[in-house]
Amino acid sequence: MKKLSLVVIAVISAFALVVGAQLSKVGAEDFTYVGTKKCMGCHRAEYKSWQGDYHAKALDDLKPGIKVEEKQKAKLDGEKDYSTDAGCLACHATGYGQAAAPGADLANVGCESCHGPGSAYKSPTIKSKKKWADNREEQQKLAAEAGLILTPSKESCVACHNEKSPTWKGFDYEKMLEEVKHTK
Ligand code: HEC
Ligand code: HEC
Ligand code: HEC
Ligand code: HEC
Repeated sequence: MKKLSLVVIAVISAFALVVGAQLSKVGAEDFTYVGTKKCMGCHRAEYKSWQGDYHAKALDDLKPGIKVEEKQKAKLDGEKDYSTDAGCLACHATGYGQAAAPGADLANVGCESCHGPGSAYKSPTIKSKKKWADNREEQQKLAAEAGLILTPSKESCVACHNEKSPTWKGFDYEKMLEEVKHTK
């Protein structure tokens, strides 16, 4: 009997979570992170260029035995595993500590770190190729309302590129922006 009621409670809680997640999509500020793999299928070219970028390997920096000299210079332990350290993941992962879809691939500094959490704008209605071809401006407006950021502001980069980074090297927004536009 006791076991059964536990199961019932578990089912009810799971249901409450699902309903909660559905409701939360209504609020404009409640977009959740879906992970880089969800963008890949429709944006092969950007995905490929991102893969060749430093951001796609940001999580590797936290592994033991990687960039040992750079870590020592920054007074970090080159042999320590920092890959589950919340203080590092805040800048070496995507949307760390914020609402995410179950199972979302949030490793590294992914698409949504710059373009905003994708739960609403990745939808096929907003992302219909035909609609973009028919009325680009209207589609851009809809996508922006659903949380898509086309050009990340200086503030959004500086959330990570600041002196709290143990290996801080300074940051020139205009110059650095050119580096991440998927033109390479
Ligand atoms: C179902 C397919 C699909 C998915 C999934 C998708 N997109 Fe798109 N996206 C499109 C299409 C189509 C366009 C319009 C392309 C064009 O004409 O330039 C677009 C446009 C964009 C633009 C440019 C907007 C502009 O104003 O020019 C960005 C940035 C973008 N998507 C980012 C993302 C990110 C990040 C994800 C993952 C969270 C994602 N997209 C998921 C299909 C998709
Ligand atoms: C470090 C920040 C950053 C990351 C990470 C990033 N982008 Fe972008 N993205 C940009 C910038 C900057 C532009 C150029 C915006 C402009 O033209 O004003 C851009 C442009 C785009 C565009 C518009 C079309 C184009 O190619 O110019 C699409 C689509 C896009 N990104 C998709 C993605 C996808 C998919 C990912 C992940 C695989 C991704 N971006 C990761 C910064 C980023
Ligand atoms: C979520 C945190 C985060 C955000 C947001 C972010 N970056 Fe980064 N960025 C990193 C990390 C971590 C590295 C180091 C990765 C490495 O070199 O292994 C990095 C590295 C870089 C590099 C190469 C290394 C360097 O400093 O010379 C460039 C260029 C860069 N970022 C540009 C940008 C730009 C432009 C934006 C905003 C459009 C941006 N980044 C947004 C975390 C972030
Ligand atoms: C405030 C954001 C932030 C935090 C917190 C952060 N990093 Fe970084 N990390 C960055 C950025 C941005 C870069 C790119 C270089 C730069 O400008 O600092 C970077 C680069 C690195 C690099 C590569 C350095 C190089 O010269 O190639 C290593 C290694 C690294 N971080 C390890 C860590 C570890 C370990 C932690 C946690 C103890 C950590 N980071 C915490 C933002 C951060």
